[in-house]
Amino acid sequence: MTVTRLLDQDRPAIAFTVDGEEIGARQGDTLLTAILAAGLGAVRLSEFGDGPRAGFCWMGACQDCWVVVEGRGPRRACTTLAEPGMVVARR
Ligand code: FES
Repeated sequence: MTVTRLLDQDRPAIAFTVDGEEIGARQGDTLLTAILAAGLGAVRLSEFGDGPRAGFCWMGACQDCWVVVEGRGPRRACTTLAEPGMVVARR
């Protein structure tokens, strides 16, 4: 899944790392939005099948978007704001 940014394209640019790859985002993006807008395709793989996951509810209710943020542990990508220099691992 890819997200296309249509609004707020003038917010300041930031960069952070996902699985060792630096990606660009906009200040105020959630990790989920930033990862999908960067074209990474999925936020994680399902524990129950072989399908890539791109979140389900996008509002912190379903737990379909867990990522691991260095120094903070597991976080929901849909409710965690991307920060400059953040180091994120998808499962
Ligand atoms: S997409 Fe449902 S909790 Fe993040």
